[in-house]
Amino acid sequence: MNEVRRLLPGKQTSSSPISKERLVERGFDRALDYALALEPEEIISTVTKSGIKGRGGAAFPTGVKWSSVSKAEGSVKYVVMNADESELGTFKDRVLLEEDPLGALVGLVIGAHAVGAKKAYCYIRGEYREVEQTLARAIETLRHGGWVGPHGVEIEIRRGAGAYIAGEETALFNSIEGKRPEPRVKPPFPTTKGLWASPTLIQNVETLANVAILFAHDLHWFTAYGTQDTVGTKLVGLSGHIRRPGVYEVPFGTPMQEILDAPELGGTVSGSGRLGAVLLGGAAGTFLTPQEVKNTVLDYPSLGAIGASIGSGAIMVFDDTVNLEWVVTKLARFFAEESCGQCVPCRIGTKRILEMMETGELWTRTSDLRALGQAMKDASICGLGQTAPVALLSILERPELRHHA
Ligand SMILES: Cc1cc2nc3c(=O)[nH]c(=O)nc-3n(C[C@H](O)[C@H](O)[C@H](O)COP(=O)(O)O)c2cc1C
Ligand code: SF4
Repeated sequence: MNEVRRLLPGKQTSSSPISKERLVERGFDRALDYALALEPEEIISTVTKSGIKGRGGAAFPTGVKWSSVSKAEGSVKYVVMNADESELGTFKDRVLLEEDPLGALVGLVIGAHAVGAKKAYCYIRGEYREVEQTLARAIETLRHGGWVGPHGVEIEIRRGAGAYIAGEETALFNSIEGKRPEPRVKPPFPTTKGLWASPTLIQNVETLANVAILFAHDLHWFTAYGTQDTVGTKLVGLSGHIRRPGVYEVPFGTPMQEILDAPELGGTVSGSGRLGAVLLGGAAGTFLTPQEVKNTVLDYPSLGAIGASIGSGAIMVFDDTVNLEWVVTKLARFFAEESCGQCVPCRIGTKRILEMMETGELWTRTSDLRALGQAMKDASICGLGQTAPVALLSILERPELRHHA
């Protein structure tokens, strides 16, 4: 399988990523003129039919979200691009914004029109200074074309300040509002009460880029790749023991093994050359055994069937010499440090897990870890606490990984 380039521009492209020429070359000028002339319901219907699901991790159907915000009561509405990207092993949004910043912005402008928002925010990870400048210039390109400005939508960039939790949608709203980035209790959901308690559409960078290419082409073109259940392509970030680390765009349905091995993709496992495990989906992801990697394709149902999810598309590769207990301890420290501390199951639970990992109790306290993990899943306010035990529990479910731990 060759690498596909749809969300990412073709390698032969020579125009500047923020230029008018690039806008035309990618068909984004057409997409904007076409979409902004449509009734909002027509846009939402196309997005719904496309089957696009959120690429920020939760895979929520995008059309459903757009429809909810559009129908929500309120004279002021907002749209937000979530470019906080602080999930471990995840760097696809940075690459996407470096190579094609106009795509995600075009999706943002179309989203604003669809839900009736006059103001949009791009919330970008604090360390992505250069990307921020590129994004600012790309916004100016759209302003010169008349698609951004007082008559349409105004776009403002806000920079994050290094907290992983600020990527959680409601924590992000608090951050934009100048408050501590602590998640809010849901419901109410952002679709009805988001930024400044107004209906808010928040989408990941890659989700918005999908909307842009959908309107630059058509449904038929868009649905040509993928599987029946999971349409389109996905950016994956390969890191760890892999010969060609980086961001690749692959059709949904691509065998996981092929993503690791194909010469144009991962180019095979490095280190010992023998696969030990893959951590799919970042810190809150799932460990897969070599056998699972061999038998599974990249799509939501196939991965769901083995208790895994694509998450942000991070694929961390470990050769068979890596002590996975050491990896899990690192993950536990990450969560203990990044918990905002607002709710007890997460504040205390992440610390207890870290203590058990540091004292080498992964395989001796399995029932305690399972009970603690369940309590955290059930009772934490937000996704951080709910998913912090997932990677750890996924190892316990796969005793064949024990000899690596
Ligand atoms: C701890 C935490 C961190 C998150 N970080 C990000 C992030 O950096 N980028 C992102 O798009 N979504 C992130 N999310 C998911 C967002 O809350 C939200 O679901 C997403 O931005 C919605 O966009 P989508 O539907 O396009 O995926 C995070 C969630 C949690 C719980
Ligand atoms: S689950 Fe953790 S990160 Fe989320 S609100 Fe509770 S303490 Fe904060």
